[in-house]
Amino acid sequence: MNVTIDKQTRHYRTVTFDAATNSVRLIEQRLLPHEFKIISTANYRETAQAIKDMVVRGAGAIGATAAYGLAQGARAFRGGNLVRFKSHVEAVFLTLKSARPTAVDPVNAMNGVLRIMASGENVEEQQALALAASEDFANNDVRHCAEIGQHGVKLIHDGMRILTHCNAGWLAFVDIGSATAPIYAAQKVGVQFHVFCDETRPRSQGATLTAWELAQQGVSHQIIADNAAGHLMQRGEIDMVIVGSDRTLGRTGDVANKIGTYTKAVLAKRHGIPFYVAIPLSTIDWEMESGAKIPIEERDQNEVLGAWGMVKTRSVTHFAYSRVANPTSGARNPGFDVTPPDLITGIITPAGIFKPKELWKNRKTLG
Ligand code: MRU
Repeated sequence: MNVTIDKQTRHYRTVTFDAATNSVRLIEQRLLPHEFKIISTANYRETAQAIKDMVVRGAGAIGATAAYGLAQGARAFRGGNLVRFKSHVEAVFLTLKSARPTAVDPVNAMNGVLRIMASGENVEEQQALALAASEDFANNDVRHCAEIGQHGVKLIHDGMRILTHCNAGWLAFVDIGSATAPIYAAQKVGVQFHVFCDETRPRSQGATLTAWELAQQGVSHQIIADNAAGHLMQRGEIDMVIVGSDRTLGRTGDVANKIGTYTKAVLAKRHGIPFYVAIPLSTIDWEMESGAKIPIEERDQNEVLGAWGMVKTRSVTHFAYSRVANPTSGARNPGFDVTPPDLITGIITPAGIFKPKELWKNRKTLG
C-alpha cells in the first residue's frame, strides 16, 4: 500500500527479504500509527522473536515472515552435509512455528517452502529454492488479497456502513489485506461508504492499525469502542460486517479470529446483518476437525490491565504503558475466539465467496 509521510508517498510491503544481508525487513507495527519505521532481523531467531513480540502480526504477514525466516535460517547454514542441513532446517521450522500458535498461515507457508526445497539435490540448491519459495508465498499472498477484493467488491454498495474488527488490512498481510481488499476495491470504483473500526482491545489493532491504514487510503471511517457495535446495529447503523481470520477450518467452516469476533457475529445474527470473513488460501486448515481444538493464544495479563500510548513530556514524545486496572487485580487474556459456521454469511476467498460449510466440498478449487 502507499504510505504518505511528510507529503512523500511510497509503496511498501509489510514484509520483504534482503538477500544480500540475509535479513527479513519488517514494518515495526508496535510503533504505528505514531511512527513509521522499518527494522531488519539478522537471523531466524530474531525473526521468530519479532513474530512473538508482535513487531509483525496478522495471519498473512506472519505467514510470509515465517517463510522468509525459514529461508533465512536455511541460507545461514554452512557446509554441504545434507543430513545436518535437514536437522538444522527442522529446528528453524520449530522455532518459527512456536512463535505464535493460533494462526495457521506460518505453518502452511513453511510447509510450502519445505515441499519446494525437497526437490533440491544438495544444500546449495535447497537454500536457493527456499528463498524462491518464500518469495512465491509473499507474491501469492498479494495476489490472493487482490482476488479477494475482486469477489468482495460486489457486496459493497453506495451508502453502506461496514463494521470491521481488529486489523485484517495490508499490515496483516504482505499488501492490500483480506477484510480491507473489498473496501479498497470498492473505493477504487467510486462507491461511497463508511467503515466503523472496532477499537479491538486489549491491543487496539483496530484503533491504531486499521484506522491508520484507512486514513492513509482516504477511506471514510470512525473508530468505535468494542462495546458500541451492538447499539449501532440495533439503531440500523451497520449494514455489513467483514473480518479476517487466523485459522479457518476447511472441514467445518469454524473461524478463529481476534477475540471479540464471535461476539460481533452473534450480534450480527441477532440483527439480520450479513457477516463475512475474508481469507487467502493459506488461512485454511484442512486437517483440524473441530473448532474446539483450535489453539487459542493466552497473552500477557498486562495487555488487559493497562494500555500503551504516546506521552508528551515537555517537548519529547515517547511510548509509555499506563496501568488502568485496579492494582491488586489480575486478568485473563485469550487472544482469539472461534465463530461457528452458522453465524457466518459467507467466506470471501481468492476463488469466490462460499458458505462456510461449502469449503470442504470445494477443497480442490481452494487448494
Ligand atoms: O494478534 P494479531 O494482531 O496477530 O491478530 C491477528 C489479527 O489481526 C486478526 O485476528 C485478523 O482479523 C486476522 S489476521 C488477517
